[in-house]
Amino acid sequence: MSTEFANTNLEVLLSAEEITARIKELGAEISCDYVGKEPILIGVLKGAFVFMSDLARAIDLKVWVEFMAVSSYGKAQKSSGEVRIIKDLDVAVEGKDLIVVEDIVDTGLTLSYLLTNLQSRGANSVKLATLLDKPEPRINKELKIDYCGFQVPNKFVVGFGLDAAERYRNLPFIAVVKNPEIA
Ligand code: IMP
Ligand code: MG
Repeated sequence: MSTEFANTNLEVLLSAEEITARIKELGAEISCDYVGKEPILIGVLKGAFVFMSDLARAIDLKVWVEFMAVSSYGKAQKSSGEVRIIKDLDVAVEGKDLIVVEDIVDTGLTLSYLLTNLQSRGANSVKLATLLDKPEPRINKELKIDYCGFQVPNKFVVGFGLDAAERYRNLPFIAVVKNPEIA
């Protein structure tokens, strides 16, 4: 029988229990910060889909759920900062309070583009919630993360929505791929 979750090429970095507990804390914090408001959670596809689902259920407020999909131009593995919107929002956000929900902030270039783009649509506020923050490769040092689950080392991580060539998104934990050469 093949198993994905016990794959020996994975080294668990954050367990499902740790992640669940931390997302509950983030949800409670957001619930306090947005009392009397109805924030729009904007999940960045595909990576944020798992975090978004747990975070939304940890926020005890009326929230709106939206998704965007973006893609970097070119074939480069590393973010170039040139971002293309593949799927835009279905609603206007003028005067609204937005929380962009991301899986991981790496160079920060994708988020810089997205946050500026959303601000230019006349949102009342735009904040950023990310499950993971990988501070070392950051290019945009000005990027402010309002709600952060965990800081991770400068290694390629997968699971809980994050992928390596579309694999591992369904892992219920966050892991480092020990040998990226092995499929
Ligand atoms: P950046 O912050 O513009 O460099 O891009 C961040 C995006 O790159 C994330 O939303 C992920 O999709 C992807 N990414 C960055 N680091 C990792 C990683 O360690 N594992 C999986 N995806 C990653
Ligand atoms: Mg992403």
